Amino acid sequence: MCGIIGIASKKLVTSNIIQSLKKLEYRGYDSAGIATIVNGEINEKKCAGRVENLEKMLFKSPSSGNLGIGHVRWATHGIPSHVNAHPHSSDEVSVVHNGIIENSNELKKNLEKKGYKFKSQTDTEVITFLLTDFLKDFDLVEAINKTLKTLNGSFALGILFKKYSNIVVGARRGSPLAVGYGPEENYLGSDSYALKSMTNKITYLEDGEVCLLTNNKIDFYNSKNKKINKEILTLSNDKHTAEKGDYKDFMSKEINEQNITAKACIKEYVDHLRKDINLYNFPINPLDINKIILIGCGTAYHSCVTAKYWFEELTNIPIDIDIASEFRYRKIKLNKKNLYIFVSQSGETADTFAALDLCKKNSVKTCSIVNVVESSIARSSDFVLPIHAGPEIGVASTKAFLGQMLVLYILAIKISEIRKEISKSDYEKKINDLKKLPDLIKNTLNYCQDNVPIIAKDFLKAKGAMFLGRGLSFPIALEGALKLKELSYLHAEGYPAGEMKHGPLALIEEGLPVVILAPKDRYFEKTISNMQEVIARGGKVILLTNEDNKVIRENVRFTLEIPVSNEHLTPFLMTIPLQFLAYHVASLKNCDIDKPRNLAKSVTVE
Ligand code: G6P
Repeated sequence: MCGIIGIASKKLVTSNIIQSLKKLEYRGYDSAGIATIVNGEINEKKCAGRVENLEKMLFKSPSSGNLGIGHVRWATHGIPSHVNAHPHSSDEVSVVHNGIIENSNELKKNLEKKGYKFKSQTDTEVITFLLTDFLKDFDLVEAINKTLKTLNGSFALGILFKKYSNIVVGARRGSPLAVGYGPEENYLGSDSYALKSMTNKITYLEDGEVCLLTNNKIDFYNSKNKKINKEILTLSNDKHTAEKGDYKDFMSKEINEQNITAKACIKEYVDHLRKDINLYNFPINPLDINKIILIGCGTAYHSCVTAKYWFEELTNIPIDIDIASEFRYRKIKLNKKNLYIFVSQSGETADTFAALDLCKKNSVKTCSIVNVVESSIARSSDFVLPIHAGPEIGVASTKAFLGQMLVLYILAIKISEIRKEISKSDYEKKINDLKKLPDLIKNTLNYCQDNVPIIAKDFLKAKGAMFLGRGLSFPIALEGALKLKELSYLHAEGYPAGEMKHGPLALIEEGLPVVILAPKDRYFEKTISNMQEVIARGGKVILLTNEDNKVIRENVRFTLEIPVSNEHLTPFLMTIPLQFLAYHVASLKNCDIDKPRNLAKSVTVE
């Protein structure tokens, strides 16, 4: 993944590059760097660790210059270190890169034979030397295109040249790159979010395109070195804020604003006056849908698993779910009567995008459910259903998960209504219940504030943890386990409670924390039996159930109670205590909540 920024200005650029890099840290944060042109020479500063470290470094040894490039890294080739941090510069060229160069080993051998000396273990340094080499014989655009043609893999690049000291170059294949137009300056960014504080006039580079930025003009070229024109887009005014406010970290803010997320999302889709759901220009007539395939990665995939249960209950449409990185390589018969739904918070996840691209190439109907409406996935799909959650900064997804589930649930109800698979009264009741959801979420948030921290202490000495649920609680068990892993680095497994006896039961030993998700639904008795099996083997049970539920609490270490609601709404409420749990365990272990080790928010590599 990695984040890229580039600025060509009349003013000094370092401080704006640093501010933009901070916004891009969700893409990677193991090292950071910047290069500017100072007195006609490339001036490179970089270090291991966060942008904060780079900032301190620049404070001691400032970097001037009116144009520059910056980078935050998520390591692919070579450990996170000073030497592997970007930019990678020769005397002539400096490069920042997002993506992976698949033929870098082979290219490196050839360049070494020509006498180029590599300092890093990265795949990026070959780009620096290829450019340096081609520049000996070709003009700027030709040298860039010759270099790009030599590379296999995916990339978004920001490049500075000593010889062309008023130009910042951007190029892409596979990885996204936004270009921004500002007053007396122009920009490059891995996404428009990084540029938003500087401009709302944006265009996006397409695969194979190159752009040359000076402080007063931007020229675009295609892969045949021909100048091309691009349309300028105006970004929407985002009313949501990306500030932490009084919260300690973004994650606690994002968890605690989920009632607002739900409210905003419901407001966009549900017309309470007409008791109806708005769904205009849907790309396929729901009556003609043969099958729905839901595709995503990580937490977004878990929202797909949850939606499978809703769709199956509310409609007669067969549902498949798929992890994008698997979908894209399987031999799948794509069908024009199927609807392929892609779920992604960022809208930039490489595997999800590739799966969508495969569908587009086969001309099947696609719909995306995203948080970032300007994203590549949103722009490439036939139809977009935004989740309206506002910027999510914490790497571990929380409010976006809730938003993804909500849009999927609303879609399932609407499709069911159009297909007349739900009665009018049931449809209206479901809409009415949705209206109550933000308050139910708010109550659950308040309850968790007081009741979850004490439970977290129990996880500190644990070797691992288990999350068990049936039906709609099963995907939430998966998500609970994922949150705990991501944030606290504790091994956790999410399982269908009924599957325990087929293996995972062997893991239960004295004191292992086991979270049992047992709302008062049709699976309740069965799940409670599974809970007894855990207790009998020494597991330390944390029972998650509904208020007023008279369950046997003997030998249950803690019980958490979520409000009673329509059965279909329990996933929204069940998720919250699990988010709090992961958060508090990670806090007690002093983990970096917003930036867990080794992870990144937007995964733009395979
Ligand atoms: C990364 C993030 C996860 C997220 C997943 C999919 O792994 O750390 O939180 O669920 O990517 O991201 P997307 O943006 O496609 O929802």
